[in-house]
Amino acid sequence: MANPFDLDSQDAYLRWRGHKLVSAITSPDELIVEINDPCQLTAAEKEALLLRCRRSNMVIYASNTRIDEQGLQRLCLQLGLVRLDANWLAGEQGITRITVCNNDGQRQAYIPYTDRAIRWHTDGYYNPPERQIRAMVLHCAQNAGRGGENRVMDHEIAYLMLRDANPDYIRALSAPDAMTIPARDDENGVARAAQTGPVFSVGQANGALHMRYTARTRSIEWKQDDATRAAVAALEQLLASASPHIHQVQLEPGMGLLCNNVLHDRAAFTDDAIRPRLLYRARYLDRLTTT
Ligand SMILES: [Fe+2]
Repeated sequence: MANPFDLDSQDAYLRWRGHKLVSAITSPDELIVEINDPCQLTAAEKEALLLRCRRSNMVIYASNTRIDEQGLQRLCLQLGLVRLDANWLAGEQGITRITVCNNDGQRQAYIPYTDRAIRWHTDGYYNPPERQIRAMVLHCAQNAGRGGENRVMDHEIAYLMLRDANPDYIRALSAPDAMTIPARDDENGVARAAQTGPVFSVGQANGALHMRYTARTRSIEWKQDDATRAAVAALEQLLASASPHIHQVQLEPGMGLLCNNVLHDRAAFTDDAIRPRLLYRARYLDRLTTT
């Protein structure tokens, strides 16, 4: 069957596009699913979660049951997320605790472990292709005293809007040399080689669209040609627009964003001195079930 993300398959694209625009979630309230025990989802809860993911590649769950890293892993397992992308600063279970680290020389050099804003990105954009991050979850154990909201956008919608505006944008952003992350440490302090690759790619096995992107302006080298420059500018403009497809969410304790690695950012925040912000982050090489 023709893949809608193939620029030569205009019919398949238009069919997919029509369906996507009808089903995509445009109200942040609709993104939220209340669940009882994350470790033991009911069939209805599971279906409600996965339905949002099918429509918009993401869902926000909300539960009054507190969970730890192991509980989070159990939640993810029920939704088809098995293969964690572990790194050496992550905890034993391969889940990273994101909190402000003022006294940890290694971590405090990396933005996630500060209270600063993080620009639009998908996770693991510096990973090699064999460790492509297809899904991730951000679970809120403690929210900030003030700020720290996330904005999210389905990367398939970003693709759709760029392709509608000009298919050349997609062509440029699908080039294997579109975006290079120079060799250095990653955000977790792990030394890594330079990674050159496309922004948009399609999975060989599942035909799913993957996006690799960061809006950061340092430690990134875009291909130096007019087509790439125009495409990157169009994407930046899209992410700065007031689109009904860009949702702002404030995660409260017990809530989490579960997604097929959609575009997201983070606002700066101020911690409550007694209860600092704490998020658990898990990254997976798998996509969510049935999406
Ligand atoms: Fe992220």
